[in-house]
Amino acid sequence: MQPIRILFISIEGNTRNFIEHLTDYAAQQHATDDANPTIEATEISEASDFQPETTPYFCFVPTYLNGGNGIDNGVKELMTNVLGEYIAFQNNARYLLGVVGSGNRNFNEQYCLTAKRYARQFNAPFIANYELRGVPADEKRVYAAMVARLKEVNGHVD
Ligand SMILES: Cc1cc2nc3c(=O)[nH]c(=O)nc-3n(C[C@H](O)[C@H](O)[C@H](O)COP(=O)(O)O)c2cc1C
Repeated sequence: MQPIRILFISIEGNTRNFIEHLTDYAAQQHATDDANPTIEATEISEASDFQPETTPYFCFVPTYLNGGNGIDNGVKELMTNVLGEYIAFQNNARYLLGVVGSGNRNFNEQYCLTAKRYARQFNAPFIANYELRGVPADEKRVYAAMVARLKEVNGHVD
């Protein structure tokens, strides 16, 4: 199986840390059975050159919102906008397989709301969420969610 491609953004390092652990977890899974895909992750930041994407990828986005709850009044996305702009660039949204969100449950209705908004805006499923830097159980669950989504789009039946 091809490596799983991930595009992510991380402002304070939590998402970057989770992706590092997730990449290690995927490598371990691949070592036990090479049918299990590895992960190739790319960080998007304000310094990134926008590229036209030509292969499928997942995006991982934390939540930074100011005001509003996104349900019955407006929200303003802070800090993470460049990832949304990257996905909106040329045909990049066409290759988006799914969105993984992170945040902090203390934000209640706003928990992972940016990922939910991206999923709706770019017409891709919101496949998983985790809090802050995640825990090992989150690595296993998020990896399984990506593998399941790949099987779904590739038409595999277990
Ligand atoms: C100013 C600020 C606003 C935030 N707003 C939200 C929010 O609306 N919803 C949420 O779930 N988490 C919110 N968070 C929590 C972050 O999404 C969380 O800490 C995340 O792990 C940060 O990822 P990063 O370290 O990769 O940037 C906020 C954090 C900060 C500092």
